[in-house]
Order: sequence, then structure tokens, then C-alpha cells
Amino acid sequence: MPQDEDKKSVAELKRLVKVLTKREIELTKAKDELEELNVHLEDKVEERTRQLKETQEQLIQSAKMATIGTLAGGVAHEINNPLGAILTNTQMLIIEVKDPDQREALKLIEEGTRRCRDIVMALLKYSRKPEFDEFKPVELNNIINDVCNLLQHQLDTENIHIKKEYGDIPQIEGNANELQQVFTNLILNARDAIKRTGDAREITIRTYRENNSVVAQVIDTGCGILKENISKIFDPFFTTKDVGKGTGLGLSIAYKVIEKHNGKMEVSSILGKGTTFTIKLLGGG
Ligand SMILES: Nc1ncnc2c1ncn2[C@@H]1O[C@H](COP(=O)(O)OP(=O)(O)O)[C@@H](O)[C@H]1O
Ligand SMILES: [Mg+2]
Repeated sequence: MPQDEDKKSVAELKRLVKVLTKREIELTKAKDELEELNVHLEDKVEERTRQLKETQEQLIQSAKMATIGTLAGGVAHEINNPLGAILTNTQMLIIEVKDPDQREALKLIEEGTRRCRDIVMALLKYSRKPEFDEFKPVELNNIINDVCNLLQHQLDTENIHIKKEYGDIPQIEGNANELQQVFTNLILNARDAIKRTGDAREITIRTYRENNSVVAQVIDTGCGILKENISKIFDPFFTTKDVGKGTGLGLSIAYKVIEKHNGKMEVSSILGKGTTFTIKLLGGG
């Protein structure tokens, strides 16, 4: 009988040893896994820290842009009155002066001043603080044209042509200032895309009426957008531009503005060929 008991104890011990060995193996494995996870975690923290730093830099950049906007507005305001005086006086002189050469010179001054005034006006309109949530009947063609005036010179020097195809469209309810921002960003994005390819250098701006809606399209002959990026371009901070060049905020703000106007914004793009942004807004009529 006692011998039987001994046998039982030995068997029990053996079983225990087996269990313990198994546990030990499991523990070692768990320890290895934990160590690996730790390394992973450190990588993750590093990656997230880097992203955060990038985001902060971009925020600083967009704050800087806002400051520049305010400054430009101030400068434009100061220049506006003297320009008005130059223009009126030149026009008066044109009437008085008889000498054809002098008249020609004065006409050149008038034309130059007019251009300056248009740019300054556009800058003033652009930098004006948006009247909060104010919706008024607006002419989309005029809004787009103001933006074009503001950007014209810059695009000229970059040898990019704007083709305007304004349709006969009804007024819409909107915030002119915010809509200007939308089109400024779309046109500047188109410019950047064209600068990347260097082939055909044309931006077409088209407006037309579709049933009760007003449609505006900004069409470029630029580099196009990679398929995998299409779903990301409206995300805040998504940019494929160099540090300091892009904030990645333009399209996300544009999207919000259009959404606020009960509108829709869509994009279609062919890589290497160009991109079309389409905005649909409800007409007032
Ligand atoms: N017309 C376009 N052609 C090609 N890519 C575009 C165009 N518009 C926008 N994108 C892409 O979408 C990204 C986000 O645009 P946006 O939000 O305006 O930010 P940003 O211009 O500062 O990069 C751009 O970096 C670019 O990759
Ligand atoms: Mg942009």
C-alpha cells in the first residue's frame, strides 16, 4: 500500500515538473513578446512625436500666413487712397493736355494705376475680416473674377494662362470672402500642379447653370493626383508639397466652406494630365 502511495507521489511530482516547465516556456515567450512590444511602442512614440512636431510647424506656418494676410490688408488700405488721387489727377490731365506724346504717356500712367488699384482692391476684399456667418446674395462670376485679378500678375510671371468661361448664372446666397478663399486656393493649387509638369500651362475656370444649381469648375493641365491620395486631399494637413510650401489646410478649409454653403465639392484627376475641381451650389432663383 505505501509503495503505491510513493508511486502516486512520484507521478504527481512528474506531472508538476511538466506543468512548471511548460509554464516556464510560456513565461519566456511572454517576456520576449513584451520586449518586442516595448521596442514597437518606442517606435510608435517616436513616430507620433515626429507627426506632432510637423503639425505644430504647419500650424505656425498657417498662423504666419494669416498674419501676412492682415499685414497685406493694412498696406493695401494705405495705398488705396493715394492711388485714387493719382488716377483722378491723371484723368484730369489727359483731358487738358493737347500734346499727343504727353497724352500717350499719361494714358500709360492711367492704365498702370488702374491695374494697381484693381490689385489693391482685390487684396483689400480678400484680407477683410469675414463678417461672421454673413450670407448675402452674391455673383459667383464676380467673386471668381476678383480672385483672378489678385492672382493675374503672379500667374503671368509664371507663364500660366487663365481661360475664363463664365456662364450666365443666377445669384447665390453666400459669403463672398469665404468663397474667394476657396477659389484662391483652388487656383493656387492648380498653379502648383502645373509648375510640377511644365507642359501645357492653362487653368480653365468655368461656371454654368445646372437646373437650380450653379456649378463652378477649376480645371488644370497639371501633374494630376495619385489614386491613393484622392481620398486624402481634403484631410487637414495632408500635403505633398515641400516643408514651408504647403500647409495642407487649403482644401480642408475649402471643403468646410462649401459644406457650410450647402454645396458639394468633387474632384476628378488623371495622373500626368490634370485635375478638375467641381463645386455645386444652390442658386437663389
Ligand atoms: N490641382 C491639383 N493638382 C494636383 N494635386 C493637387 C491639386 N490640388 C490639390 N492637390 C493635392 O492636394 C494636397 C492638399 O492641398 P491643400 O489642402 O490645398 O494643401 P497644400 O496646397 O498646402 O498642399 C496638395 O498638397 C496636393 O498634393
Ligand atoms: Mg493649397
